[in-house]
Amino acid sequence: MQIIVAENAGFCFGVKNAVRLLEDLIKKREKTYTLGPIVHNQQVVEKMENLGVKAVDLDDISEGNLVIRTHGVPPDVIEQARQKGLNVIDATCPFVKKVQKLARDISEKDCTVVIIGDPNHPEVKGIKGWCPGEAVVIENEEDARKFFTDKRVGVVVQTTQTEENVKKIMDILKEKLDLAFFYNTRCNATHQRQKAAKKVAESVEVMLVVGGKNSSNTKKLAQVCQNVGAKVYHIETADEIKKEWFRGVEKVGITAGASTPDWIIKEVISKMEEISREMENQQGEVAYEDG
Ligand code: F3S
Repeated sequence: MQIIVAENAGFCFGVKNAVRLLEDLIKKREKTYTLGPIVHNQQVVEKMENLGVKAVDLDDISEGNLVIRTHGVPPDVIEQARQKGLNVIDATCPFVKKVQKLARDISEKDCTVVIIGDPNHPEVKGIKGWCPGEAVVIENEEDARKFFTDKRVGVVVQTTQTEENVKKIMDILKEKLDLAFFYNTRCNATHQRQKAAKKVAESVEVMLVVGGKNSSNTKKLAQVCQNVGAKVYHIETADEIKKEWFRGVEKVGITAGASTPDWIIKEVISKMEEISREMENQQGEVAYEDG
């Protein structure tokens, strides 16, 4: 069985920065918290907790460093934290900050802001919070068909969206709205990971997508691979892999979300190598018996 690992799998620039920042604070032995889980990956969050960094809500603490995660937050949350006397350290990814700023600028031009994204995702809630005026979230074609306003509209995009979803939604919006601005703010890391995952998925029968079940960018990677016809298993760790998934399979692809650490990807690769060896040995035995 051939195992192909997609390029650009794993930690993106924004997540690397945030994790490095936390590790520096841990070394300094300062009392540090993160506002919610630092990234959508349970194993990274547990590792940080073991090193003394807890994920909290604003109401839970009254002193120490409060690290804002890569997804960002609305400005009033930062203000509230400062007023409580917390030392706010902003690890919002610069690409998310750019979307927040664009959304605010559009809103200040008296346009309705449309955010293409998941309304329940913290990044999208954060972006919405930066708009002083009306902001609407559109997740899919159905939302796009239902939405109408006669005001001028500016569109931004959640950084982890697929190009396909953005295009489908924009095709609908372009037909009926007064579109003053459109910023396709998918980040480059998303673009590269989805492109590389698609390329591998097109050439394999089974694709393992490794990352948090609550991670938006990992779920989108799984979607991209499914769309090209691969059988996809979204797993968080190597322990979830089942040997029967690979019966009769010749090629397996592996990719991982932007919040999946290297050590988990390595464990998945070694488990797959082990399964591949076992299957080859079994095939060898059958060949011998037949002979
Ligand atoms: Fe930033 Fe993109 Fe990663 S927005 S956190 S570089 S997925």
